[in-house]
Amino acid sequence: MNETSMTTAKVINGIQIWPQEKIERFRTTLLSWYDIEKRDLPWRKNNDPYRIWVSEIMLQQTRVDTVIPYYLNFMRTFPSIEALSQAEEDTLLKTWEGLGYYSRVRNLQKAAIQIMEEYNGEMPRDPKEIIKLKGIGPYTTGAIASMAFGLPEPAVDGNIMRILSRLFEIDADIAVPANRKLFEEILREIIDPYRPGDFNQALMDLGATICTPKNYHPEKSPVKEFNQSYLNGTWEKYPVKSKKKKAKPVYYAGVVISNQKGELLLEKRPSNGLLASMWTFPLLEESQISQFFAKGKFLSPKEGTSDYSVNELNDQLDLFYGIKPVLIKEPIAGDTHIFSHLKWHMAIYYGELPKNDLIDSIPEHCAWVKPEDFDQYTFPGPQMKMWAAYKNKFLEK
Ligand code: ADE
Repeated sequence: MNETSMTTAKVINGIQIWPQEKIERFRTTLLSWYDIEKRDLPWRKNNDPYRIWVSEIMLQQTRVDTVIPYYLNFMRTFPSIEALSQAEEDTLLKTWEGLGYYSRVRNLQKAAIQIMEEYNGEMPRDPKEIIKLKGIGPYTTGAIASMAFGLPEPAVDGNIMRILSRLFEIDADIAVPANRKLFEEILREIIDPYRPGDFNQALMDLGATICTPKNYHPEKSPVKEFNQSYLNGTWEKYPVKSKKKKAKPVYYAGVVISNQKGELLLEKRPSNGLLASMWTFPLLEESQISQFFAKGKFLSPKEGTSDYSVNELNDQLDLFYGIKPVLIKEPIAGDTHIFSHLKWHMAIYYGELPKNDLIDSIPEHCAWVKPEDFDQYTFPGPQMKMWAAYKNKFLEK
């Protein structure tokens, strides 16, 4: 190594890292901006690792505005790791109702049990231990370690990769999981060792308010003078992000069935798989339902025009649920729900049991429930949409 290379700043994967003096100026500039502009968020009230952990899990795939009321309710319901470890499944799922990605809350509880059993009820401080907890990956480990314990650990998610891509003109594809390591290495170089938690959160706020995916105005950024892509006029190229695979469409008949007492039939989903243990109206997968949708939108069919017959639905309802309702011939409403890998299109049918039909022949995982008692059951997103579409239809009349 010659003398010049010893004094030049580090290069990581061909990316020139700033000299120390510039890194320090960047920290000061970013943190001064954060001290004035930081968002007032409930999980920022103190450094409690449990509060930070729960908020970070909720904030994965969910917007801050949506998370706040869920977060406050969750903390009231389960104020400690111990309370979470002892929660009943139904109570647990209810706190997550409508947030989606329910494995997040199941894993939260599994990790709470791990902490009770293996770490004396306290979140471990060592990142190597934190990452062993169920549902906690490198991002959440970095977030907890830096925000709760003041360790200079990177917390790299899509937002931070976007910011770093623009600052350093990084050509690595941020959709490729293996590339996260590169961003972590860069962040390790620039993170403020005295205020690592604030540094990570300052980047998060920058990503949420100024360095956003769309409508990005680099000239408004407090750190524009450090932004290589802005200075070079290349910012529209960054981040490099390949397109995700499209969600696969699946078509369902969602059936709202009323008995003679005005109760509606709900079924509990199996305890494994998508939307495990949550309640929905009966959903029957049927490819012919695709005729009621165009570009993901439900099309109200004209009476008698559909070539999907409710006789087929009746056969399935008899077979799987032991009921023989009288169904309206066409779907009355419909909606679509997008998961990360699937797109559920649901056409909603309505039917009533005839006066003399027995109502107690339904399978064990089903229940007749009065709509005013629906709040005692956990409804996943698609069920909320079916219920809303159904109510809308009847309110229209
Ligand atoms: N997104 C993920 N974590 C966050 C945090 N701690 N504050 C604001 N937004 C976030």
